[in-house]
Amino acid sequence: MPAGKILKNRKRLLVTGASGLLGNKIIKLAEKDYSVAPTHRTKPLHSNSIELDITEAKDVRKVFHKFEPDKVIHTASETNVDMCEKEKDHAWKTNVDGSHNIALACSEVSATLVYISTDYVFDGRKGSYVEEDNPNPINYYGVTKLEGENQIIRNCRNYTILRTSVIYGWHPWKQNFATWVIESLRQQKEIAVVEDHYNTPTLADNLAQMALETSEKGLQGLYHASGSERVSRYTFAKQIAKTFNLDTSLIKPIKMHQLTAWIAERPKDSSLKTEKIQKHLKTKPLKITEGLNRMKREAEQ
Ligand SMILES: NC(=O)c1ccc[n+]([C@@H]2O[C@H](COP(=O)([O-])OP(=O)(O)OC[C@H]3O[C@@H](n4cnc5c(N)ncnc54)[C@H](OP(=O)(O)O)[C@@H]3O)[C@@H](O)[C@H]2O)c1
Repeated sequence: MPAGKILKNRKRLLVTGASGLLGNKIIKLAEKDYSVAPTHRTKPLHSNSIELDITEAKDVRKVFHKFEPDKVIHTASETNVDMCEKEKDHAWKTNVDGSHNIALACSEVSATLVYISTDYVFDGRKGSYVEEDNPNPINYYGVTKLEGENQIIRNCRNYTILRTSVIYGWHPWKQNFATWVIESLRQQKEIAVVEDHYNTPTLADNLAQMALETSEKGLQGLYHASGSERVSRYTFAKQIAKTFNLDTSLIKPIKMHQLTAWIAERPKDSSLKTEKIQKHLKTKPLKITEGLNRMKREAEQ
């Protein structure tokens, strides 16, 4: 097992889920200033990535005691909302027991922990949620992510919880809402997108910067860290198409109740307010057009 890239006089950062959409962006940003230990479960994305299943407490302890991180950003999760609904034991094991293992290991090696949570801890009846609003998840993914938060609070001395919403951006092999819209429209495929489902889409690169700055500054407690604009999925899809010069007429509006493919119920409006974190960070949550333009520039490089 490689111990991550240890460079003298540098702080050590361990990132779980570094093969994922968010985790890999954090590693890319951090590797110029930190000794980084990216970890993955199935498929490495970085040459020095460590294979680590967070549900295996013994393995987690082994990796943490070997690398001795100063800072940990825990992004690993079962993120497939419908799979969490179908395979509840697997979802609990990954999102709750896994987070428990990470929190305990952080305490053992005195590392600070940033845990990435979700807007799906809310029921979606109110929208524009602030940190003081009461969570009330309506699907099992939300239940496990909220219990993951509780595990962090109970078992870790020095932690931050960042709740985010609809992460989008480029990834070598994983699809997300934005890349699905782009790929479908490029192939001239018509797509149906819900017009009564609201959230605050978040560019992965922007969230990676916020998460890293949060960790660097040692912020403590609970923060909402998403894009700054509330939007329906339908409007978001249209904005994606416009930014990438694709045919917006291929996007057809539908209602949430017409979507038969969804197994888990989704909160209708789980948009987040980000004023609290904006007071503490230099990195600002991006508006939709800012995020999409940045994604487009990245593709053109
Ligand atoms: N995506 C969204 O729209 C969204 C919205 C709100 C909140 N979030 C939260 O944001 C975080 C990052 O999301 P993301 O979209 O970047 O995730 P993602 O692309 O789905 O990646 C998930 C990562 O978790 C790893 N993982 C899964 N099970 C694991 C296990 N048992 N042990 C170790 N690693 C495991 C995966 O590893 P392998 O791929 O190598 O198996 C992968 O690296 C998650 O905590 C998620 O709950 C996401």
